[in-house]
Amino acid sequence: MSRTAAKTDTQDASFAARLNAAANDTEHLLDRLLGKSLPEGEIARPQRILEAMRYTSLGGGKRLRPFLTIETAALFGVPRERALMAGAAIELVHCYSLVHDDLPAMDNDDLRRGRPTAHKQFDEATAILAGDGLLTFAFDVLGRPETHPDAAVRIALVTGLARAAGIGGMVGGQMLDLAAEGRFGKNDKAQGEQDVLTLQAMKTGAILKFCCVAGAILGNAPKAKHEAASRYGQVIGQAFQIADDLLDVEGDTATLGKAAGKDAAHGKATLVDLLGVAGARARLTQLVKDAESTLAPFGADAAILKDAARFIAERRA
Ligand code: IPE
Ligand code: IPE
Ligand code: MG
Ligand code: MG
Ligand code: MG
Repeated sequence: MSRTAAKTDTQDASFAARLNAAANDTEHLLDRLLGKSLPEGEIARPQRILEAMRYTSLGGGKRLRPFLTIETAALFGVPRERALMAGAAIELVHCYSLVHDDLPAMDNDDLRRGRPTAHKQFDEATAILAGDGLLTFAFDVLGRPETHPDAAVRIALVTGLARAAGIGGMVGGQMLDLAAEGRFGKNDKAQGEQDVLTLQAMKTGAILKFCCVAGAILGNAPKAKHEAASRYGQVIGQAFQIADDLLDVEGDTATLGKAAGKDAAHGKATLVDLLGVAGARARLTQLVKDAESTLAPFGADAAILKDAARFIAERRA
């Protein structure tokens, strides 16, 4: 084996171990937070909604968002437990977005993370409420002193996540995604590359970018490094959705744990549709290089985030 190959293998192994550690820690924290004990101010946790919220947030997913928050926060010396709280809050928003994305009124999918979607496992009303519950709970978690002792930092996190998830971010992007199918009239159909880039920056990119910004907020990062983390998040956010769209075309349902081949069937606006598979792949390669450049201010400390950019582009699920 050549030295270069050996080095790459080692890097891959340590990346996988750190992603795995973030996933395990997130799982344990969410399991504890979504337990039976009631924080002050809650009256009761009805069994069916608790079960649905646990079903949709535990036992699956790559946990890439908490990983990004933990590793970005580590650049600024943030204690892992705090980054984990913020990462878990973002993961709760992500899980809610998947539950609602899969609903019959949205993408109408039956399979998620290798299991029946929430509305299949439970029923539509329970799935809607489970999503509502996960979204709301995310802000409960962010607001707790364990996330950060300084209330001003917690407010910055709450505001940032609300904006990434809301009308000017994920929710707005999901609206554009459905409109681009032409469901609300032909005029809403996305026109070209810039429309698709905006749609994707909103529906997927905003939350992924915020994962990295959250690390900088938790660490009271100086402006230039906060901006570098933000730019990195923006670039990998774009790469992430292109990879997701490529996997929809090239992946298989068993490996993905969700149905493949649905974007074309629904007339979704994707870069794969506009640029073709080879064009989208070339764009991904460029974005990985761009992501590496954004990390220059962090030097060798950011090696794991470079690996993360590669992982996002090359992942198989
Ligand atoms: C899928 O996200 C939905 C998109 C935002 C494209 P992930 O691929 O991160 O899904 P999980 O969390 O690993 O299941
Ligand atoms: C989902 O995008 C984005 C959000 C959930 C906000 P997709 O609809 O492409 O995600 P998948 O392919 O169903 O996971
Ligand atoms: Mg969708
Ligand atoms: Mg979908
Ligand atoms: Mg998809």
